[in-house]
Amino acid sequence: MVVYRPSRRVVVSGVLAAGSMAMSAKAALGQERELPLTPHCGEEDPTTIAQTEGPFFRAGSPGRADLVEPGSKARQVELTGFVVTRGCHPVARAVVDLWHADERGAYDNKGYRYRGRVYTDEKGRYRIRTIVPALYPGRTRHYHVNVAAGGKLLLTTQLYFPNEPGNRRDGLYRKELLMQIADGGSAKNSAKGRAKDDAMAARFDFIIDLRM
Ligand SMILES: [Fe+2]
Repeated sequence: MVVYRPSRRVVVSGVLAAGSMAMSAKAALGQERELPLTPHCGEEDPTTIAQTEGPFFRAGSPGRADLVEPGSKARQVELTGFVVTRGCHPVARAVVDLWHADERGAYDNKGYRYRGRVYTDEKGRYRIRTIVPALYPGRTRHYHVNVAAGGKLLLTTQLYFPNEPGNRRDGLYRKELLMQIADGGSAKNSAKGRAKDDAMAARFDFIIDLRM
């Protein structure tokens, strides 16, 4: 196994160089943008913090990289990143299962709107296109994620948006679970610094406890 030693430049250029994923990731991240790992992975570094699954997980989500519903007017998000071990080994064929509230702050508990899962590629990369979820009472803006590998659930957590006023008031919020946003802005619609295709470029790398 090749040891994956990420650095800002290597990781992002690696994303940009990768086949069909390259164009969308490139468009989302922007040519000159560099996003740091979230957090760095290393033998001494902790794994990504686990959080509650909450009441709205549904098993059997469809395998798809684009969760955006037709006609949605919400701002889109291109969420990309890696699944790596504490030793920074990429985890290929890991499952990243994402679910979140829709444009009105509601979960689809009968179907699979804004639910989907993707596999990481041979370098441990994943990419999901979705929307900025609306807020719902009692919580700040967030995504829910399960990460599995080898048929085993290895991490359940939530991801947060920077510069959200609700972060300070949400007891579950952890800054270690903040996504890196390329434009550095909030989840609100802001013309400043948007990616060319108008999507918010978000980045999160999952560090899981897996021996390889
Ligand atoms: Fe939630």
